[in-house]
Formats: sequence, C-alpha cells, structure tokens
Amino acid sequence: HCTRIMIYTHNLMKIYLDTADIEEIRAANETGLIDGVTTNPTLILRSGRTLPDVAKQLVEEFPHFESISTEVVADTVEEMVNQGLSYKDLGSAITIKLPCTVEGLKACKNLSNSGIKTNVTLIFSAAQAVLAAKSGATYVSPFVGRLDDNSVAGLEVVRSISELYRMYGVETNIISASIRSVHRAVRSWYNGARIVTMPPKVFWDMYEHILTKDGLERFQQDWNMSQ
Ligand code: G3P
Repeated sequence: HCTRIMIYTHNLMKIYLDTADIEEIRAANETGLIDGVTTNPTLILRSGRTLPDVAKQLVEEFPHFESISTEVVADTVEEMVNQGLSYKDLGSAITIKLPCTVEGLKACKNLSNSGIKTNVTLIFSAAQAVLAAKSGATYVSPFVGRLDDNSVAGLEVVRSISELYRMYGVETNIISASIRSVHRAVRSWYNGARIVTMPPKVFWDMYEHILTKDGLERFQQDWNMSQ
C-alpha cells in the first residue's frame, strides 16, 4: 500500500530569476524551485543574444515556467503592440513587459484585452501601480533597489501597492524587482509581493546561513570521531 502525499505549491511564494543567462537559469532550475524569468534590455545585452532567440529557448527548455517577461522597446503604442504581438506566439508563458508611460499603458490595455499577459515595469509609486492595474496589467514590477538607491524605501512602495490592491480586490500580481539582497527578497514577500524576481546570486544566497555552515562542520567532525 502506498500513500501519495500531494504538496500544493501554487499559492506559495514565487521565485523568478532576473536574468537572460541560460546557463544560470539552467543551474538554478535544477533545484526545482524556480517559477519564471524576467528579462530587460540590459540583461539581454549582457547575454550577448537577441531577445526572440532567448525567449524561444526559455519557452522550449522551461515549459513549467508560469511567466517569461520580454520587454518591448518603442516610442509609440502601435510599435509596442506590434513588438508584443511578435513575441506572444512563442508560448503562453510569454509576458509582454511595457514601461509605465502613457503609451506603455495604452499598449498594455490593448494587449491585455487580447488575452496576452502583460508586466508593467519601471514602477516607482503606488500611483503608477493603480494606473497599471486599471490598464489590465497581469503583473506590475516595482523596482525596490532603485528606489532604495534614491533614498526612498522600496519596500514601503511594495507594501502600499499590495495593501491597495488587496483593499479593492485587484487581481494584478506584484513582482518585486531590482532586488540585490536576500533581505530585500524576504521583506518583499512579507510586504505582500507574492513574486520576487532576483539575480541568480541572490537566489543561491537564500540557502546560506553561517549557523548552517558551522553546524554542518561540527556534525561532520563529530561524525568522523564516532567512526
Ligand atoms: O528587471 C529589472 C530590474 O530588476 C533591474 O534591477 O538591479 O538593475 O535595478 P537593477
């Protein structure tokens, strides 16, 4: 007789990787704990590849990722929508990332109305998050680290957005972005962002604790002595 234990993970905290580096994504994905990926033009440049190329490989190699953000770079609504449409056929996880501007939010509304996943990026205030939600955004990405760099508490912005969304039953998901430390990642979850996108290094750092390291060394020594 065998009892099967089901562990439901759909409503747990989510971890996305904020990188376009396939090798790093592959390594982290082997843990089985990664839920998605976010890219931006800077990360694509760093990867030395083109966005369609990276996006196609991500969709094929990681079919379990719930969201893969590909960012449009354009000035007009029409160009943004067309770029978005050109990426969306790569797979259902493809999420069109748009800037929080008048044009970006018009394009967001257009794409969201067609059932395409959208992620409004470069969010630095609750006001912007309200506009993005009203534009039908699937996700909003507040940039915690860059707010902190500018002497504004990034986590407070995450908390304001999350409280507002909860108060009005907004379904837009918060992706806490621009995360440079484990502390900011954990505090993002505490402050109501179910999803945190982080550089691979921050993900690996989540495993680390000095007391785990010390404790393990001591157990190893004692084990050796008992043999
Ligand atoms: O994906 C965009 C965001 O996470 C960038 O982070 O460290 O360049 O501010 P950072």
